[in-house]
Amino acid sequence: MDKLFIFDTTLRDGEQVPGCQLNTIEKIQVAQALENLGVDIIEAGFPISSPGDFKSVVEISKAVTWPKVCALTRAVEKDIEVAAEALKYAKHKRIHTGIGTSPYHIQYKFNSTQDEILERAIACVKYAKKYVEDVEFYCEDAGRTDNVYLAKVVEAVIKAGATVVNIPDTTGYCLPSEYGEKIRFLMENVKGIHNAILSTHCHNDLGMATANTISGVLNGARQVEVTINGIGERAGNTSLEEVAMILKSHKELSINTNINTKHIYPISRMVSSLMNMPVQPNKAIVGRNAFAHSSGIHQDGVLKNRESYEIIDPNDVGLDTNTIALTARSGRAALKHRLSILGVELSQEKLDGIYEEFLKLADRKKDINDDDVLMLAGKERADKQRIKLEYLQVTSGVGIQSVASVCLNIAGEKFEAAASGNGPVDAAIRAVKQIVHRKMTIQEFLIQAINKGSDDVGKVHMQVEHNGVNYYGFSANTDIVAASIEAYIDAINKFVK
Ligand code: KIV
Ligand code: ZN
Repeated sequence: MDKLFIFDTTLRDGEQVPGCQLNTIEKIQVAQALENLGVDIIEAGFPISSPGDFKSVVEISKAVTWPKVCALTRAVEKDIEVAAEALKYAKHKRIHTGIGTSPYHIQYKFNSTQDEILERAIACVKYAKKYVEDVEFYCEDAGRTDNVYLAKVVEAVIKAGATVVNIPDTTGYCLPSEYGEKIRFLMENVKGIHNAILSTHCHNDLGMATANTISGVLNGARQVEVTINGIGERAGNTSLEEVAMILKSHKELSINTNINTKHIYPISRMVSSLMNMPVQPNKAIVGRNAFAHSSGIHQDGVLKNRESYEIIDPNDVGLDTNTIALTARSGRAALKHRLSILGVELSQEKLDGIYEEFLKLADRKKDINDDDVLMLAGKERADKQRIKLEYLQVTSGVGIQSVASVCLNIAGEKFEAAASGNGPVDAAIRAVKQIVHRKMTIQEFLIQAINKGSDDVGKVHMQVEHNGVNYYGFSANTDIVAASIEAYIDAINKFVK
């Protein structure tokens, strides 16, 4: 069996997504869950980009033990110095430096030449080597870089001391066969290639990120750069869970990872809930429908033999199919167990608080599902926000205009407003806007009823644009108008500091 190194970039490339920013405490929570999952390298941030990113790299370095902590830089000396400083406390550390190598980057981004870029590549690796032993070099936009020039760069940076060379398909353009051939070309034509590891880093613009990554691995790459739930710039990065389960399912490939796949589902839920990024229901491995059989023929087949229609045992990804039903008679232990399956670990004091809310909800609703439980855990976070919804009253119906009165608590002070609108949500949002005087536009508004009954919780995801940046808000409530306004306020809290 060959070992494949898993390099997780959820906290760097994943966190670059507008509206998905985490605070340092949340990042530490994700980093520790990644350690528990068994990733080999955690890319913790881009320290020079902001004081927040610098601090997160410092704190993650202190918080994890086994994985290597990696910090991103450009091919700029100052970036490298700052990254080295941020990694000071890491038990195992790596600097990830690099530069664009495609004609688009060389001509338009840098107004430079291939020879100059080659010099800068060598220089930044040598500079990073002064601070750390383990230096990874990325050839940005390698997907659109001519293979002969790419090989020249890879050979030179390995000679300069790079231990890993990353071949990003930055724009997600390559076909799987093309990307695989690129890796093979490097394996066969770069002198000294066995002194370094080739890494894949594939974006999903054409939906080929996982296929390209696997093609790279089949042709010799031994590190993959991935994110939980495939989050990342634009259409995202390669999903960690997809690569891990492909290799687990296809034993004939003889490629092993350190991933404990039973932790996949909890970490997927944790990342989705902390970043307010819903997982698409039909997402491979972690989507709500990934193991749901709805057609009668499939259900019949699965009941006779699970393997008729399932290639993965849901238990292997940590989906507990025998979960104990949560009802008004469930105790704290059952609630705690379900929360931990969903990746939420709480102190006894916080659990007690959530348990009280849980009992109230269970009185209104027969079965409490995973989304309800996450909603209860999320409410705890909402209580700490700067802007809170004190009350909301709406009058709506057929043949009358909707009217809403809203009271917001902003940093301890109460503000009231009333407005009419084209439906109850519109009226309430107009009232909120009278209190929060910011230019903001709703870009996306998604309401989902979770299960079946009319007593069920409605989940609302809202994307609000402010000053050209999109911010995500989420809420869940048995009252969908309240859930909508809470999600709107959740998004506003991301930019009103
Ligand atoms: O997609 C990309 O090229 C990157 C590099 C900075 C590694 O994220
Ligand atoms: Zn990337």
